[in-house]
Amino acid sequence: MPKKIYITRNIPDNGISMLREKGFEIDINPDNRILSKSELVDSLKAKPYDAVLCLLTDTIDAEIFDACPTAKIFANYAVGFNNFNLADAKSRGVTVTNTPGGLTNTVAEHTIALMMTLASRIVEGDKYMREGKYNGWDPMLLLGRDLGGLTLGILGTGHIGSRVAHIASNGLGMKVAYYDIARNDRLEQECHAEICNNIEDVLKVSDAVSIHVPLLDSTKHLINADRLKMMKPTAYLLNTSRGPVIDEVALVEALQNKVIAGAGLDVFENEPKLAPGLAELPNVVLTPHIASGTESTRQDMSRMAATNLIEFLEGRVPPNSVPLA
Ligand code: GLV
Ligand code: GLV
Repeated sequence: MPKKIYITRNIPDNGISMLREKGFEIDINPDNRILSKSELVDSLKAKPYDAVLCLLTDTIDAEIFDACPTAKIFANYAVGFNNFNLADAKSRGVTVTNTPGGLTNTVAEHTIALMMTLASRIVEGDKYMREGKYNGWDPMLLLGRDLGGLTLGILGTGHIGSRVAHIASNGLGMKVAYYDIARNDRLEQECHAEICNNIEDVLKVSDAVSIHVPLLDSTKHLINADRLKMMKPTAYLLNTSRGPVIDEVALVEALQNKVIAGAGLDVFENEPKLAPGLAELPNVVLTPHIASGTESTRQDMSRMAATNLIEFLEGRVPPNSVPLA
């Protein structure tokens, strides 16, 4: 009997082909949309699946595991895995995997793009042109900021945060300040990055602050109204991690009141919804959770998710198991 895999939404073909070549039986959600919890439960009850490939938009907890007790591996097509209840996975002996690595540089480049877009006022300029407002060169028009020499603050110096620091430091000539629970000697050497004693100190010294922490109970609303007030009024806030790390309502208020100068956001607290007022602000740049969305990275993620499933289903240890302890 071939092993059975359920895939919650279509992903790039390369990983799916790898699974088919192994002879696995594959069912894919036929609709190109996010399944509701009850739809996912019903889909998983249809057959005794051995494995599930899921997305960051699927909430995976006891209800899902119990709908399909035969599936002992859930491969997340994402580096983040806050969509999982890991305690529920652990208590049921389910292995969870993610797709780190390939997307590091892709997300870092998107983060830098958001920062440069704000500093060079690209979106405002584009809108101005399309609205036919341009009447000729103007010495005072849409003045932006030079990033070289300014300080980029990094919250969380894992792979992505470190890569952002590298590009900012070595590519743009920015200074780097950071806070992480662990000191990052390599970053200090390679980017002359300076560790701060706490998050607050990063916020105070930085001209742009970029968030690269996972979403955990302890990082929810890490950036709240009080912390926004500690930032410079000229500073930008960048988020390509997870939306709930920022109190989005407080951010809108801070942007409206010029507490900070701007924000570049790829993730939102209640995706796909935006906090009221956010989309009306001229000093924000918004992208629809596409920071890892290059063709090659999405193929890489597809390959990694498939590899995790193949290794597990053939009785080996998958390369990207998420620690459940
Ligand atoms: C994207 O947000 C990911 O976690 O891969
Ligand atoms: C975490 O997602 C990291 O790679 O920094």
